[in-house]
Amino acid sequence: MNIAIIGTGYVGLVTGTCFSEVGHNVVCVDCDESKVKLLQGGGIPIYEPGLEEMVKRNVAEGRLSFTASTAEGVGKSDVIFIAVPTPPLEDGSVDLSFIERVARDIAGAMTSYKIVVDKSTVPVKTGEKVAETIKRYCKADCEFDVISNPEFLREGFAVEDLMKPDRIVIGSASERPNEAMREIYEPFNAPIIFTDINSAELIKHAANSFLAMKISYINAVAAICEASGANVEEVANGIGMDERIGRRFLNASLGFGGSCFPKDLSAFIRISDDLGYDFGLLKEVQKINAGQMDRFLKKITETLWILKDKTIGVLGLAFKQNTDDVRMSPAIEICQRLLKEGASLRVYDPKAMEKARELLPAEGVTYVDDMDSVADGCDALVVATEWPQFKELDLAKAKEGMTSPILFDGRNLFDPSELEQLGFTYKSIGR
Ligand code: UGA
Repeated sequence: MNIAIIGTGYVGLVTGTCFSEVGHNVVCVDCDESKVKLLQGGGIPIYEPGLEEMVKRNVAEGRLSFTASTAEGVGKSDVIFIAVPTPPLEDGSVDLSFIERVARDIAGAMTSYKIVVDKSTVPVKTGEKVAETIKRYCKADCEFDVISNPEFLREGFAVEDLMKPDRIVIGSASERPNEAMREIYEPFNAPIIFTDINSAELIKHAANSFLAMKISYINAVAAICEASGANVEEVANGIGMDERIGRRFLNASLGFGGSCFPKDLSAFIRISDDLGYDFGLLKEVQKINAGQMDRFLKKITETLWILKDKTIGVLGLAFKQNTDDVRMSPAIEICQRLLKEGASLRVYDPKAMEKARELLPAEGVTYVDDMDSVADGCDALVVATEWPQFKELDLAKAKEGMTSPILFDGRNLFDPSELEQLGFTYKSIGR
């Protein structure tokens, strides 16, 4: 198939690359010319395991290219995927102006039948608006179909998720575009659910909100574990073995972050409100998430008492493992709140230090190049991101360099009894 992907962010770039990997001809379009130049020169603007090699291979084999011209992308393709950002607005609703802009650009460039696929996360009924917009601005008056195909990839595992998806959801109003979608997804060997456009759009918000709810649920259980002396990991294992519940996404933490869950929860609450339903359950999910960060900070202040003039080592800045993404990162929030209390920070992240510099103040933060020296001179260490390599930290050595051996583990990476044996004061979540 000849495919255009508009928007080369996490979703667009990985989707386009994986489509080319299975043999389709893909042109990725982005309005940011410097990004297009970078990609054309072999550079990758994001860190995503496995992506760089895959981009290089497909560019070299002539199946993947980049352009800043929507007209070029539309002209070369039968199917056009929209994968542009849908950022949150102040009131929790979604900014759909990028989607609308792209719909107009596609309309202006169309000269024959096209299938326009929305991959961005959008409120239910957006497909109808996109179709109206294309109809209004299409000068050539050609036929087209607008369909919805939400994306379920996780950052840090995006290539894996795209190459081996659990399911593909296609929302369309007619049979005509479905054949092309079957052909595009055939090489991925995944079950395909065909449904109406509104249901497909809703599946995305409902899925992300459910996963966020699962995390808030276990975080609330963690609070009860702390108050009762139970262990949240044992509880998660025990309930997770029930297939109806499942163990995944039951890891207690200092809260979920990233560019999806917080935004999609707010949007879903707002969408429900607009449709006349007060989704109080999801408001509680947000409240638990915010409270989780407060409870973690309270543990730090209760132990260290005064934070002013203390030095705290922070392991992790990304919103989760395997990514350089710091948007809505709980780790960044921890840093900001510790700095506000007057602490100085020594921070380390395997991939996210550069992006973190844009969010953290210049004063009071030392970026440490290797994980082993983060603890030097620190009054306490904080684990803020679940990078697996943090488990390899030589804790006995780290302790020698610390003013006082205290570790606050916001991701339950370490074994409490091991830490206590080493002489650490160790506080984690729900254990
Ligand atoms: C999420 C969904 O998992 C994807 O299916 C979806 O496609 C994507 O949003 C999206 O809408 O684009 P992502 O935001 O990349 O993916 O990251 P997740 O792995 O879901 O993690 C989100 C947050 O929850 C992270 O801060 C993570 O540390 C936290 N988390 C996750 C927990 O605190 N506990 C868990 O058990 C799992």
